[in-house]
Amino acid sequence: MKTTADFLKMKQNGEKITMVTAYDYPSAKAAEEAVTDMILVGDSLGMVVLGYNSTVPVTIDDMIHHAKAVRRGAKNTFIVVDMPFMTYHLSREETLKSAARIMQESGADAVKVEGAGNVLPMIEALIESGIPVMAHLGLTPQSAGVLGGFKVQAKTADQARQLISDAKACEKVGAFSVVLECIPQQITEKVSAECDIPTIGIGAGVQADGQVLVFHDLVGFGDHRVPKFVKKYTEVYPDIAGAIRQYNKEVKAEAFPTEAHSFNLKEEERISLYG
Ligand code: KIV
Ligand code: NA
Repeated sequence: MKTTADFLKMKQNGEKITMVTAYDYPSAKAAEEAVTDMILVGDSLGMVVLGYNSTVPVTIDDMIHHAKAVRRGAKNTFIVVDMPFMTYHLSREETLKSAARIMQESGADAVKVEGAGNVLPMIEALIESGIPVMAHLGLTPQSAGVLGGFKVQAKTADQARQLISDAKACEKVGAFSVVLECIPQQITEKVSAECDIPTIGIGAGVQADGQVLVFHDLVGFGDHRVPKFVKKYTEVYPDIAGAIRQYNKEVKAEAFPTEAHSFNLKEEERISLYG
């Protein structure tokens, strides 16, 4: 399994870091089999798996439940688990308790938190307690309400300067990496050049030191609208819906199950049963 030191080395060597989200055993297994550098158990699970329209309703128990399944599916991949909404804001103590549960109950290798500012002392406290932290700047979905929706961030030079200084502040308090979501690629380039820690981009351009995509977006699993920055590498949802439609049809028509899917009683047992 790779470590935070390996990710730093990869950046130094100019090797891109790959990351994909996973929320259950089979998706984690597929990510590991495909040789992914890191897996993120994102709180995006609230939207793509649980059907909420934001990540706000996701609880720590939800995260742990899914992260445990991911760990079982990807025993040898570095796993980052999102700390959900309002579990790392109230106090250092609350933050440490939340993160401790995630680390101990799910077997995660690191946690991810959104934002800088008031979150910086929390990142520092986590790292002082031995928990690796990935930061997340730009479009931070847990604050979508404040940001005015899911849209491109840091579009002005002032906002860009703020984001660059936030990324440096995250690095300074010890974050091992930073996700940059939905920002102009010119800012990604600057952050990646000015920080030693690797940047992991999503909707942030090719200049990031690595990329992350949401599993369901990448494989086209769901009927949800995907943002411009997503590339669907396949589209499994129509196949899945079509397969279930065909199954329903065959059950109604008694075309399934066939002999091939059925078991038979031995001849002598049949005679004994029916006479
Ligand atoms: O929850 C998530 O999937 C994320 C990624 C989009 C970075 O935070
Ligand atoms: Na997230």
